[in-house]
Amino acid sequence: MEQSRAPVLEAISAFHRRGDVSFNPPGHKQGRGIDPRVREVLGDAVFTSDILSMNALDDRLMRGRVVEQAQELMAEAVGADHTFFSTCGSSLSVKSALLAVAPPESRLLVSRNAHKSVVAAVVLGGVWPVWVHPHFDGDLHLSHPPEPEDVRQALTEHPDARAMLLISPTDYGTCADIAGVSEVCHEHGVPLVVDEAWGAHFPFHDGLPQWGVSVGADVVLTSVHKMGSGLEQSSVFHLRGDRVRPSTLRACEDLLGTTSASVLMFAALDGWRRQMVQQGRPLLDAAIRRAERVREELDAVPGLSILGREIVRPGCAADQDVLKIVVDVRELGVSGYQVADWLHEHAHLNVGLADHRRVAVQITHADDDDTVGYLVQSFRRVVTASTDMERMPEVRPPRPGALELETVMLPRDAFFGASETVPLEKAGGRVAAELVSPYPPGVPVLAPGERITSEVLDYLASGPPAGMLIPDAADGSMRTLRVVAE
Ligand SMILES: Cc1ncc(COP(=O)(O)O)c(C=O)c1O
Repeated sequence: MEQSRAPVLEAISAFHRRGDVSFNPPGHKQGRGIDPRVREVLGDAVFTSDILSMNALDDRLMRGRVVEQAQELMAEAVGADHTFFSTCGSSLSVKSALLAVAPPESRLLVSRNAHKSVVAAVVLGGVWPVWVHPHFDGDLHLSHPPEPEDVRQALTEHPDARAMLLISPTDYGTCADIAGVSEVCHEHGVPLVVDEAWGAHFPFHDGLPQWGVSVGADVVLTSVHKMGSGLEQSSVFHLRGDRVRPSTLRACEDLLGTTSASVLMFAALDGWRRQMVQQGRPLLDAAIRRAERVREELDAVPGLSILGREIVRPGCAADQDVLKIVVDVRELGVSGYQVADWLHEHAHLNVGLADHRRVAVQITHADDDDTVGYLVQSFRRVVTASTDMERMPEVRPPRPGALELETVMLPRDAFFGASETVPLEKAGGRVAAELVSPYPPGVPVLAPGERITSEVLDYLASGPPAGMLIPDAADGSMRTLRVVAE
């Protein structure tokens, strides 16, 4: 195929050239009805290209195959058999993928360091999760992805499991051994779904970790807005092989997805694919070089340490994304939350995740020497400022293994059944009815259906006073918890 083409962008240009007059949504009619105060902030372009797929971008019967062609170009570019665009984030893609591989009340192997959208998929899909636990590193207080042998053991104990869901890379940039896990899954005849939300750039540079489709995964979903140039919410599914039927995946996406997918998002996806095919190598080369330089410079700052390649070894991570820079600030005597807040307020610099001892930043193809220079300089400033920061209450992280709770009830029943709200100190021994996910990274500490232990409660209680954000729990302050009614 001609990778220099960009069918969605070309069709938007044709719409503009034709000067179509629309009597269909969106009601702003390519910006004509926009309040000037909105225009002043957002500009014209966002509205002039915000058009319908049907009877605008394409004809009524979609005979131009505009979006289909863009998807085919993306599939060819990354070596997938099929690619589908989605405009509801990987949060929806992961749900569609899980519905496609595991019918209600079947068993599904899930890496327990999953994002909350995966646990939501388990709840909505009504499946029994077989949690494959990550390796909790007690020194770093970090979970490393499960390994092929962990998956083999889970499949041996649960031969009726329908599929496996693996997360790689994590929000901390650590990668799983996707090749090894897919081999084990395929030996047992089950498909592997990889949530590669953070790995949209991997297919376009061989110096980055291997990506799922190239090493045997059956379905890979990725958020192109996270590390690529997609607009927020844009996500892509890739399929390889015949273990998951494209029509099944498409039907499941159709069950959940919007009937008004944003053409703007499709356009940005289309442009990103063309850019990466044509210029990905040099752009990502430059990003990698800058990230390596930033890593060295930050590691040399007293009080900061960078999560480096030392974590790439058996029992830990199988690989690491050099573009995700995780800065440990523990030696400063302050938390990652405080460093993130200071940087936002005083340096107007926004970081990615922050936890009780770290912050993470991402370098992408979009950075230049000025942006990364400012990053390093701002971290030097926050180190100096940290001496005057208030000493906050500490988070009490759980011991290794303490997060491996027993699922005693179908998560769907726990979530939708009768529940009650109890003070946190009374929740020990009860069954969780809600998700409780410190955010970011949004990995649930508690999932519906899990038996709650006092150690986990102690950890959760210590979080909010230290600055931890728990947006999904009914009571984010963790004074109460929603549990299954007895
Ligand atoms: C591992 C993982 N999967 C899925 C998602 C959801 O992606 P999105 O924000 O595109 O809905 C996230 C979001 O942070 C994530 O970290």
